[in-house]
Order: sequence, then structure tokens, then C-alpha cells
Amino acid sequence: MKIAVLPGDGIGTEIVAEAVKVLNVLGLPLEMETALVGGAAYEAHGHPLPESTLKLAKEADAVLFGAVGDWKYDTLDRPLRPEQAILGLRKNLGLFANFRPAICYEQLVGASSLKPELIAGLDILIIRELTGDIYFGQPRGRRIATDGHFPGAEEAYDTMRYSKPEIERIAHVAFQAARKRSKRVTSVDKANVLETFQLWKDVVTEVGQQYPDVALDHMYVDNAAMQLVKAPKRFDVVVTGNMFGDILSDEASMLTGSIGMLPSASLNAANQGLYEPSHGSAPDIAGKGIANPLATILSAAMMLRFSLNQEEAAQRIEAAVKAVLAQGLRTADIYSEGTTRVSTREMGDAVVKAL
Ligand code: IPM
Ligand code: MG
Repeated sequence: MKIAVLPGDGIGTEIVAEAVKVLNVLGLPLEMETALVGGAAYEAHGHPLPESTLKLAKEADAVLFGAVGDWKYDTLDRPLRPEQAILGLRKNLGLFANFRPAICYEQLVGASSLKPELIAGLDILIIRELTGDIYFGQPRGRRIATDGHFPGAEEAYDTMRYSKPEIERIAHVAFQAARKRSKRVTSVDKANVLETFQLWKDVVTEVGQQYPDVALDHMYVDNAAMQLVKAPKRFDVVVTGNMFGDILSDEASMLTGSIGMLPSASLNAANQGLYEPSHGSAPDIAGKGIANPLATILSAAMMLRFSLNQEEAAQRIEAAVKAVLAQGLRTADIYSEGTTRVSTREMGDAVVKAL
């Protein structure tokens, strides 16, 4: 089983190191190769997603990804910015289905900013379409032109678009995922204003007719943002476009106490996948050894489950994470009085020990 390991920038290198450590003690035939991506690759090769890194990712069964980005690259032309690496990987590998679970661990109920009764037992799955929408529509603006043809723009735009087949395939993913859960799908759109999301709503409704056993409802994105903090447990599977999914998944992640706990999987039609924590590169805390590696460790578990067909090993990791939480070990982001504060490395070691 070939894994491309792409730690990236900021805390990416620290958290991925812990996940690799965990993978190494499972006794599985895993072949891991590491490459530069994001700002680190830009520094070394002048491009955030060098050909060699893309090739490694394409040839692997799965990609374990850390995070990319740093404020110091904010003035670069957009195609050279670290974020383009992750967008390039998503597009080139066809990773259209992004799974972002938001699960509240029993021991962390107190770490959420919401009242415990609102989030105890929370288990929702955000399915974000990942290769379409305004992220990949035609852009125009000041940071796009590398040829100097569009300097100092007075106007800028990005085009929001979806095709019917793009919506159909992500809708199928959502309904199939819901079948393995509580059989409810909420499709989030902005059909009251945007044509793109009227099409979205119509197509999801049509696909839903093939899943009579799954309940489908529709919600405008502004209302969904409100419901997520008002009554998050009303959701089971939430399916939405790239942009709304980006925003709502950050919001959902904080319901659980910390974005540092949430893994994600991005899959293509062949179940090849990229696995990364839902959080970013956090340059403000990079190198301090305080980042929470659990989201990345849990992403490695998702990788074993979805792309490498190792369900048992995935469950072992998830059980080990629950065990270290039960022991009271906490990184800074989930620390509360009465628990034991540990570093990034100590948390990784504890998971290894629990395994
Ligand atoms: C995410 C991130 C990315 C996105 C950025 C880094 C391009 O916010 O994975 O949610 O917007 O998709
Ligand atoms: Mg995001």
C-alpha cells in the first residue's frame, strides 16, 4: 500500500510526523514516501505543487496531507500561493467528495463553546463537493495575472458554476453515506438567490427519488449556519457545494470543542483519497510543539478505512484516540482544568502506547 506523505507548512510537519508514527506501529505493509508541498515546495522548487510531488500523489493509493499556507505568501501571484497546491491536488486527482465528520467526543463536551446538552452525542457528516463551484470557475483580478496584462484591477470576479453530472455524483455519495447512518440528508443551497443553487436543489431532489429510504430536506445556507449552532443534532448528513461546505465545516468543527480533533477525507471515483485534518497550517503556533495531532491521526484512520480497505486497523486507531482522551491527556486546544496538558509529540506517543 503506497502512501504519499505531504506534510506541507506550519504545524503540518509536526502533526503528520505523529500520524506517521502511529501508522508505523500497525504492522501493515505500508510504503510511505514524503514530498514537499505548499510554501515549503515554493521555497525549494519555486512552485507550491511541483511535478514530482503531483506524480507521487497520483501514483499512490492514498495521500496523507498536513496543511499549507502562511501569511508571508499573501502577496504572491495567486498561482504560486501555497493554497494552490491543495486545490491542484484536488483537481488533478479528481477528489470531488469531501467528508468532514463533526463528532463530539464524550470527554470533550466541556471544550465546546455551546451548552453541553446541545452537543453531547453529536455526530454529523458534512459532505462538501470539492472540485467545482466558485473555487474553480473563471476568476479575474489583481493577483491572477502573471503576465502583467491585468495590473491594478478596479474590478474582480470569480464565477460560480455547477454542472448537472457534478451535482448528481456528490448527491449519490451523500445518499449512500446516509444509508449507513441515520438516513437523513440535508441539502444546503442558496436557491432563493443563485441560479447555480437552484440547479443544485433540483438535481439533488431528482437523485433523492432513487433513495426513498432516505429523508431529504433542503435548507438555505444562512439558515443552516444558524441551525448548526442552535440545534446541531437535527442534522445527520449535510451535503453542499464547495464554498458553503468550506464555511459550514469550519463552523461545525467548533461545535465539537476544537477544530484540532476533526479529520477529513477527499475521495475520487476510484476511492483514491487525500486525507487531511480539517484545520489549517496555524503558522502562529508552528514549531512550538503544542498543535493537536489527533485530527491528522484520525485522518490516517479514515485513510485505512476508505482507500486501503483496513477497517480493523482504522477502528484500532479510533479506539486508541478515545483511550488517550479517557486518560485525560489534552493538547492546549482541548485542555480544561483537571486534565493533563501534553505536547504534540506526547499525544502521538500516547496513541502509539494505547495501540
Ligand atoms: C479547506 C481550506 C482550503 C479550502 C484552503 C486552504 C484552500 O480552507 O480545506 O477547508 O478553502 O478549501
Ligand atoms: Mg476551509
